Amino acid sequence: MPEQQSLLARYPDITRVPNHVGIIMDGNGRWARSRGLPRLAGHRAGTENIRRILRAATEFGVKVLTIYAFSTENWDRPPEEVSGLMGLLGEVIRRETEDLHRNGVCIRHSGRLEGIAPHLARQIQDAVALTSNNQRITLNVAFNYGGRAEIVDAVRHIMRDDHAPEAVTEALISQYLYTGGLPDPDLIIRTGGEWRLSNFLIWQAAYAEYYATPTYWPDFDEAELANALIEYNQRERRFGKVLQR
Ligand code: IPE
Ligand code: IPE
Ligand code: MG
Repeated sequence: MPEQQSLLARYPDITRVPNHVGIIMDGNGRWARSRGLPRLAGHRAGTENIRRILRAATEFGVKVLTIYAFSTENWDRPPEEVSGLMGLLGEVIRRETEDLHRNGVCIRHSGRLEGIAPHLARQIQDAVALTSNNQRITLNVAFNYGGRAEIVDAVRHIMRDDHAPEAVTEALISQYLYTGGLPDPDLIIRTGGEWRLSNFLIWQAAYAEYYATPTYWPDFDEAELANALIEYNQRERRFGKVLQR
């Protein structure tokens, strides 16, 4: 893949590429307001940006990209914004799935299907099933996702499966999360200027590196992604150990 070489070749400081990157795609509303547009226009622009960043992440050699698209707390927004966001997801799945499939993208969903309108839940499940054998990159869409809800769901599922208390290990819990089978994120990026997790991958990101940028999500481009990866390359990950020098 010559493309892949060219993007990485432009950034000699990126020698370690994180396997799994999580992105909290924040700032769509403020992006729209700064242009005098309705919030939904910001969400539309934000949705468009996913294609660009997915392509760049693939070229950099990222294997899993998790994007935070709708949180369990986002239901408390004005009803017209919530329905607009639901409509956008349906639109994107209809428009992009075939193309993603052709490009070797494995789509996963992290979140609760309950609460999502049945036709939309079905669309999500169909896109996941269609692309399940693809291996170039995994696009994990956190939609109707909350880290605490995820742990609650995992505990319920473990109990339903009748595991003995002694059998409950960190590995078992990881397996029962929505992200079961995926590696933990190495790098969490948050756009839009806030420094908080907002209930995103709270278990999985225990040892992730964090990167926050004031750039609103619709403006976060390849060069911004490269900056995050460069910063990641400057971090020393110790995992609680003392490193020998
Ligand atoms: C992030 O953008 C997208 C979602 C939470 C769905 P916001 O809508 O939170 O944008 P701001 O934070 O209000 O600018
Ligand atoms: C986090 O953004 C959720 C998503 C990006 C989907 P929010 O805008 O909902 O987070 P808070 O409310 O600022 O913490
Ligand atoms: Mg926000």
